[in-house]
Amino acid sequence: MPTLFPSDDQPEEPYGTGDFKHPGLSEPRTKEEWREYLDYILPPRPVLLPLADYEQLDAEEKRRHNMVRFAHHSALIIVRTSQMMTIHHQIRRRMMTNAFQPAGARRSIVLDGPATLGKSTLVKTFAYDFEHELRAGHPERFEKRYIVDGRLIDYTPVVYVNIPSQATPKDLSVALAQYLAQPYRSGATKSDITRLVLDNMRRTGVELVIIDDAHFMDLSLKEGKVVNDHLKYIANHTAATFIYTGVDLKHSGLFLEGTGDTRVTQTAGRNTLLHMTPYNIGTRAEKADWVSVITAMEDALVLYRHQSGTLVGLWRYLYRRTGGNISSLAELIREAATEAVLTGTEKIDGALLAGITINEHAQSTYDAHWHQVDPPPAPGRPSDPLDEAGEAEAS
Ligand SMILES: Nc1ncnc2c1ncn2[C@@H]1O[C@H](COP(=O)(O)OP(=O)(O)OP(=O)(O)O)[C@@H](O)[C@H]1O
Ligand SMILES: [Mg+2]
Repeated sequence: MPTLFPSDDQPEEPYGTGDFKHPGLSEPRTKEEWREYLDYILPPRPVLLPLADYEQLDAEEKRRHNMVRFAHHSALIIVRTSQMMTIHHQIRRRMMTNAFQPAGARRSIVLDGPATLGKSTLVKTFAYDFEHELRAGHPERFEKRYIVDGRLIDYTPVVYVNIPSQATPKDLSVALAQYLAQPYRSGATKSDITRLVLDNMRRTGVELVIIDDAHFMDLSLKEGKVVNDHLKYIANHTAATFIYTGVDLKHSGLFLEGTGDTRVTQTAGRNTLLHMTPYNIGTRAEKADWVSVITAMEDALVLYRHQSGTLVGLWRYLYRRTGGNISSLAELIREAATEAVLTGTEKIDGALLAGITINEHAQSTYDAHWHQVDPPPAPGRPSDPLDEAGEAEAS
């Protein structure tokens, strides 16, 4: 046990900076944090003991076993959804097409969609796969280090920056410099910092630049042009593919660069707009897609009395609760799994789900449209997900 008051006869505990780190992940802000994300190992999936053995565990053994289950349910899984696979394919194709094209701005991808649909998860998963493939194919690149002008140059194929709110063009360059650990003198102008960033990106082999939450850039008509010009300048001088993600980017100045301007086509012509949408259950194929996400999450549960297929059977109820939003679905199932362990019910059914309140948007939409007409589904009578009857009811 560490002591609060070390004395001469009790050596001080050697706390290092890593000792207080939260075991979970936050959005990376620097290349070191990005590498932590790449190296991150999810909490292991615990093994379900025979029920009788579980019940025989003493209090401490049970507590430890359940802590591992809490960690596992908290992370649950990232589902490789069909939407994700389709967009990954489009990004991959764009990167391959861009790779050796003549100098100049490469075509970028704008990933647009409502809040919390999984945009950041989708692009980070792509970049994760991309860099891991490079690690496997070119391990030597990741071992090399150079010092140029007193600065460390190490292979950095992926840049991921999260835009702070109301960001100016200079803020963007500063975020890129911070990611790359690129120092600049105090009082440096936007142009100074940008020049250093571009030199750095050229030397470190950047191939993919992700600008997440791009809607936080000030794209009002007045500032929008300055931001667009700055983005274009950076993209022009970087042989990388850029991905911008954000909410309602189609209507922001980023994609169309303002209105009625002759330069509109210059930006719109460079970017491909891809949309993320919530799940639908209008057609058989859409329903199958929604059910496959529920199946993946249900398969990841480690509960002692949960009957596999229960959540799949509640597909329509889950759709109404979440509006087809994967983030709300993950939130509901993760909370429910935690509740099932905490209370000892060890299974998720309609009654348990009905007692869990999720994010305000999903909850108020459900309360307004479905709560009265939708009593918690009766146990043991799940509806068949691919039964065409009733599909209009929920959509
Ligand atoms: N493919 C997925 N599989 C499982 N869970 C997912 C998936 N995508 C997103 N989620 C869940 O949804 C949460 C929100 O996702 P994410 O942050 O990627 O959304 P976003 O669209 O970037 O949101 P915002 O608009 O707030 O930036 C994640 O923390 C995760 O719990
Ligand atoms: Mg996001």
